[in-house]
Amino acid sequence: MFRLNLARQLARAATLQAPRAAAPKIAQPVGTSMRFFSSSPYPFKDHSSRDDVDAATTAGQPGESGDHEGQYARTQDNIRVEYPEEEDLPRSVPVQGRGGVHDKRTLASFSLEGRVAVVTGGARGLGFVMAQALVTSGADVAIVDMNRDEGQLSAQGLIDTFKAENPGSKVPKVTAHFCDVSSPTSVNQSMAEILKEHGKVDHLVTSAGFTENYDAISYPHDRMQKLWGVNVDGTYLYAVAVAKHLMERQSPGSIVMIGSMSGSIVNVPQPQAPYNAAKAAVRHLAASLAVEWASAGIRVNCISPGYMLTALTKKILDDNPELQKQWTSLIPVGKMGRPEDLMGAVTFLISDASLYVTGADLRVDGAYTCT
Ligand SMILES: NC(=O)c1ccc[n+]([C@@H]2O[C@H](COP(=O)([O-])OP(=O)(O)OC[C@H]3O[C@@H](n4cnc5c(N)ncnc54)[C@H](O)[C@@H]3O)[C@@H](O)[C@H]2O)c1
Repeated sequence: MFRLNLARQLARAATLQAPRAAAPKIAQPVGTSMRFFSSSPYPFKDHSSRDDVDAATTAGQPGESGDHEGQYARTQDNIRVEYPEEEDLPRSVPVQGRGGVHDKRTLASFSLEGRVAVVTGGARGLGFVMAQALVTSGADVAIVDMNRDEGQLSAQGLIDTFKAENPGSKVPKVTAHFCDVSSPTSVNQSMAEILKEHGKVDHLVTSAGFTENYDAISYPHDRMQKLWGVNVDGTYLYAVAVAKHLMERQSPGSIVMIGSMSGSIVNVPQPQAPYNAAKAAVRHLAASLAVEWASAGIRVNCISPGYMLTALTKKILDDNPELQKQWTSLIPVGKMGRPEDLMGAVTFLISDASLYVTGADLRVDGAYTCT
């Protein structure tokens, strides 16, 4: 599916550390004004009479107040990162020591006892840890993923971890199913397989998705279509399949779509316009379907994570500390999120604890999108 291996990806990610080019000088006739927000004519000033205040405003020539202008707010065209080949993706391991039996009081409405949840992209990364959250909260889970073997290993890992942390408890059913979420046929086939094994589906988390970095001018069209196919079509197709099943059963249910803060802000320095647009689509898809399916008792919400330290991002950042510095310098809480930071968010939005929450976008981003 993806062409380049991790080594190539890391080599490319290393280009992020290339020295930043000086802000480009845009040719402009001397004496012209760039003042857009006033109807009163801007007084002509020749270059020699410009003062420091002018230089720092839209009246100044680009670059006039120094090479730092816009430096931390721009994308860099030389950054290219392609999603690695399947065999080069690091494995995800279950979160240890946070689940298990406890005697702390908590709201019963957070429990997913007796429910069945599907998690697309659940073989690894954020989908995997969210699947663990749902299992820990009482649900049976069907992991849906393109990577059949990884899905099976992950399902077994969740069962083993549950058994170790909950000795003597009823063991949840966790299954793995192959699916390419961008294909309607594959979605329907996996849904049929899940219904055969679990008998019903109550909840869906759509985490299958990926990002790549190319400047917009060079973005290969087939890769852009693939990106939207998985991130947008895949989210839509699985949501429709589950909603159809819930409507046929005349049963309420809930869906959580994994968007990204990139659906609301533009990341820097890596260029990724199609991904950002795809995640904005996911966020608004959740709001639109929440309205369309409200009368059927189906809630649809979105979680928009910020920079999360998955096995893949950790590997890239370990090799590229400069990139880590650039990213964390823009996060108000000063650090990236851990995948398990999504466990509470997804459990809340899937469970009855959020019965009156639908069409919402829950940002889990360390306040990145507040800046
Ligand atoms: N990691 C982050 O920092 C971050 C931040 C914001 C949003 N997100 C979003 O979270 C979601 C999960 O990201 P992740 O970091 O866990 O990625 P990941 O690569 O670790 O996991 C994604 C999973 O989706 C599966 N997948 C890919 N294409 C598929 C397809 N066509 N059909 C079925 N499964 C497919 C992969 O096999 C993989 O198991 C994505 O939608 C991503 O855009 C991630």
